[in-house]
Amino acid sequence: MDGAAFEYLLSGPGQGLLREVESAYAEADALVVGSRLRSRHDPAYVAAALTQVRLRRKAVDKLGEDAARMYFTPTGLEQATAGPVAAHRAGRIEAAGHQRLLDLGCGIGADLVAAAMAGLTVHAVDRDPVTVAIARANLAALGLTGAVSVGDAREPDRSAYDIVFADPARRGARGRTFDPAAYSPPWSFVEELLAGAAVVKVAPGIPHALVPADVETEWVSLAGRLREAALWSRADTGVQRRATVIDSAGTATSVTDAEDPGHPAVRDVGRFVYEPDDAVIRAHLVTAVAADVAGWLLDPHLAYVSSDLNRPSRLARVYAVQDVLPFKEKQLRAALRARGVGPLTIKKRGVQVTPETLRKRLGLEGSTPATIIITRTPTSAAVLLVEPLTRVEPPTSCP
Ligand SMILES: C[S@@+](CC[C@H](N)C(=O)[O-])C[C@H]1O[C@@H](n2cnc3c(N)ncnc32)[C@H](O)[C@@H]1O
Repeated sequence: MDGAAFEYLLSGPGQGLLREVESAYAEADALVVGSRLRSRHDPAYVAAALTQVRLRRKAVDKLGEDAARMYFTPTGLEQATAGPVAAHRAGRIEAAGHQRLLDLGCGIGADLVAAAMAGLTVHAVDRDPVTVAIARANLAALGLTGAVSVGDAREPDRSAYDIVFADPARRGARGRTFDPAAYSPPWSFVEELLAGAAVVKVAPGIPHALVPADVETEWVSLAGRLREAALWSRADTGVQRRATVIDSAGTATSVTDAEDPGHPAVRDVGRFVYEPDDAVIRAHLVTAVAADVAGWLLDPHLAYVSSDLNRPSRLARVYAVQDVLPFKEKQLRAALRARGVGPLTIKKRGVQVTPETLRKRLGLEGSTPATIIITRTPTSAAVLLVEPLTRVEPPTSCP
């Protein structure tokens, strides 16, 4: 979408066109709506309005109901931080006592809007003029105030702000990049920011060794999926690693290395097995979860915790152990057939097995669903027949 088309959408007639598209969209598909409207409106404006309505619908999943009043580009929506994650981050920034935030590379403004909603005074920059116009419109659409300008993230004077936020673009000409050196603005600039008061969103796969000393890394998952890591400079609490698990209702639960006793016991399978959230695993905090549930590890290198207690945890899924079988295909098939098992969920760590192949080879024809965990234990590889006690979060459609 070009700047002129977006400017038109913000005008009185443009808002009328958007409303018309919104209501027509409810009863017909995009092609029908488009051809009907093109007879009365400039085709470029109709195309822009159709794109907005389509993106708004898609964005509601990621950003919540407010997205129905916001504006997007396809790339801007893809890059935007999910609403509950942005709200959690903004809440932490506000709770730390910061008031004036500078967002460097704000995109369509998902983080910016969350910061303004948390009560921060916000100023943002992005190098793309249409994206800037959209971020500005998004603040206004939600009744928020803030300044957004076109420019390079490395230019603004940062001294007037309590805290700087950056979410470098991780998408190069050849798609998503996992190489921090290819971030825009670049990693060298991120390091410069982290020497002051700053929060920087990065890919969750960031190597631990890359994080500067005295900087906290927070791995965040939403509805069971690891989304991002955020680097928090001047970690005043002495925390270096934090895992935050946000459920689909937006409730955040965190654990940090300050709560991690380390040196876990390794023992055989108890009555329950816990599967820590990926944020916990990436933060190397599995042993903190083990301590929380009075548990131990089944293998020093695998992220399965066992315990004789069923202690509901927001940081891990809990399974009741119904049986422990040797990792032998023949015995496994016989045990599952005896139970009338059909649909089989296979979880595994530390053993050479492809779930799809094993499922085929087992040839189960029953109707009872079952879950197995194949893992190493202190004595041997074993198959745990388990019953999930944690409700599995429904998948969300946006990245
Ligand atoms: C990942 S997006 C930000 C998404 C945003 N946090 C959100 O939740 O909507 C990164 C943005 O940085 C901008 N950007 C990349 N390099 C920049 C630079 N050197 N100066 C200013 N903006 C830059 C891109 O145009 C893009 O909009």
